[in-house]
Amino acid sequence: MSKYITTPIYYVNGEAHIGHAYTTFIADTIARYERLKGEETFFLTGTDEHGQKIEESAKKAGKPTQEFADEISATFKNLWDEFGISYDKFIRTTDEAHKQGVQKAFLKMFEKGDIYKGEYEGHYCVSCEAFFPETQLVDGEFCPDCGRSTTVVQEESYFFKLSNYEQKLLEYYETHPDFILPKSRANEVINFVKGGLRDLSVTRTSFSWGVPLPKEINDPKHVMYVWLDALLNYVTALGYGQDDESLMEKFWPADIHLVGKDILRFHAIYWPAFLMSLELPLPKHIAAHGWWTRDGEKMSKSKGNVVNPKEVADAYGVENLRYFMLREVPFGQDGDFSQRAFIDRINSDLSNDLGNLLNRIIGMSGKYSDFVIDSKDVTTYHKEQLDALNAVIDTLDSFIQTVQPHRYLEELWKLFAIGNGTIQEAEPWVKMKNGQKDEALATVALVANILAKAALLLSPVMPNTARKIADALSISIDSQTFERLVVQKGLLETFTIEKIPPLFPKIEEPLLPEAPQAQPNTQAKSEQKEQPKEEDNLIEIGQFFETSLKVGTVVEAQEVPKSKKLLKLQVDLGEEEPRQIVAGIKEFYSPESLLNTQVCVVANLKPAKLMGIVSQGMLLAAKDADGLCLIRPEKPKQAGTPIG
Ligand code: MSP
Repeated sequence: MSKYITTPIYYVNGEAHIGHAYTTFIADTIARYERLKGEETFFLTGTDEHGQKIEESAKKAGKPTQEFADEISATFKNLWDEFGISYDKFIRTTDEAHKQGVQKAFLKMFEKGDIYKGEYEGHYCVSCEAFFPETQLVDGEFCPDCGRSTTVVQEESYFFKLSNYEQKLLEYYETHPDFILPKSRANEVINFVKGGLRDLSVTRTSFSWGVPLPKEINDPKHVMYVWLDALLNYVTALGYGQDDESLMEKFWPADIHLVGKDILRFHAIYWPAFLMSLELPLPKHIAAHGWWTRDGEKMSKSKGNVVNPKEVADAYGVENLRYFMLREVPFGQDGDFSQRAFIDRINSDLSNDLGNLLNRIIGMSGKYSDFVIDSKDVTTYHKEQLDALNAVIDTLDSFIQTVQPHRYLEELWKLFAIGNGTIQEAEPWVKMKNGQKDEALATVALVANILAKAALLLSPVMPNTARKIADALSISIDSQTFERLVVQKGLLETFTIEKIPPLFPKIEEPLLPEAPQAQPNTQAKSEQKEQPKEEDNLIEIGQFFETSLKVGTVVEAQEVPKSKKLLKLQVDLGEEEPRQIVAGIKEFYSPESLLNTQVCVVANLKPAKLMGIVSQGMLLAAKDADGLCLIRPEKPKQAGTPIG
């Protein structure tokens, strides 16, 4: 069997940050895991280099666009090389072979009648490289995805008949419930499609930094829309539309396209529609991860709080960074990078649970058996523990197949808990004193076997660290050993354990300067000055009671499609029907975490519309530099209980 794993291709308008590293680490982990299982694996990453955004960034930098793209693309490639990312191909959308494949695809869709020429009039967000109908804009002007101002575009354009694929897409989602991972993200895509798909403008004439249309169409003022160009990288990398399509035959359809949640729509709607038009099979999974913040704050260049993955890796080690990112955040949810959380993970999981276990058996085997470890009595004395650890190992593959690296690591760590627990219970040092040497040595050998199996299973996440553990245990990290010790559940042959220095020295202090504290901007400061002082602004008690505050229970919670901030809630206020409240809390609460919890509601606000959705109230919340939290009653209160 073959496996094909991809990352998004990264825009070359800035250098790699922690979010890019996250996707790349997950993809690398899955690719390494599949190779270890003996699967023939193709792992693709690369850079997305066309479009208005890149053209404008190059202009700002005062460089020719290609030179600018070359430089930034190289910074990505060099970083991945330095991080040991095991990609099989690094594609650039400015590669000639890619452009040729894209033109072939365009021509095929055109000849089929899926692309036609028309006139585009609408709003374009250069930052997201996306078109939006007026109805979706925030305040009639701003991009619903990133909040930036959009520009009105009116130009001749070729359109892709996306509307033709609405039903087919819906059928596909229905019959392939695992297409979008985590499954909880599927609804937002399905609802978007159900809301109606408009044909998609797939060419631009207002700038020239893009793939020209195929010469057969003979319309040189058009270049291709950057997302059509970019998405096709997943097949052009395998030779689509070029002379040799053997990789295409071997690896297409892709097993997993890893993406961030912000680009799920492009991958789960446009991409399958393009593929249907090209009569190619669809990828098996689109797996969307959440966003990383730093110390609870959104990262941005202007705040100066962007986490640079190279700086973190230089300070703490790239494998510690990989472990932290994959373990810390449930795949699909947003995650926060803080040095405190990072250090806690390294000290507790790696240094205590894993590192100490290895040190202990090196120490014990040195004392009891001159470092020789023999598995001959493990089954006799530790059958129960062997069964328990095999049961854990049997669950692990499914966490990779469903792209849940956090669960994979969480379960893997149960092996160390079994190892540490067994030593504590069996007390081999007492057994040695009581003359039960075989039993004591069987415990040491059990733990050596645990570490050997765990090293193999950890190697996709921490390849070098796992190799060091494997070296100490005289095994190699390869498919045969994986098959023997993990799949067939075999035990180690007799060997002499190597005394190695501790792999994870405890980290006492943060090794990097802390993120700059969020400073109120100067405008905010001057606004503060103009605010009346509190004592000048006293109100009568009656004025307070003009506001009706009530306790409510959240009975339904959903994301507002295309909004980064808004959630739509149904809140029971003890009235006939729950109230619909639209709240800007999505960055801080998932819909699931709110269900059946209580909130405090301003219940007599005039209804307002947020992104076209009526909101009949407001939630009380407190927000500071650490983020936002809802104000809730200390104990459950009946829905509708007045506050005051
Ligand atoms: N070029 C497009 C992808 C085309 S794929 C055919 C693109 N590039 S990007 O460089 O802007 O983003 C690449 C990936 O980085 C996206 O998956 C995005 O979700 C991810 N991230 C960008 N900022 C992020 C965080 N702060 N946290 C996590 N991931 C983030 O989109």
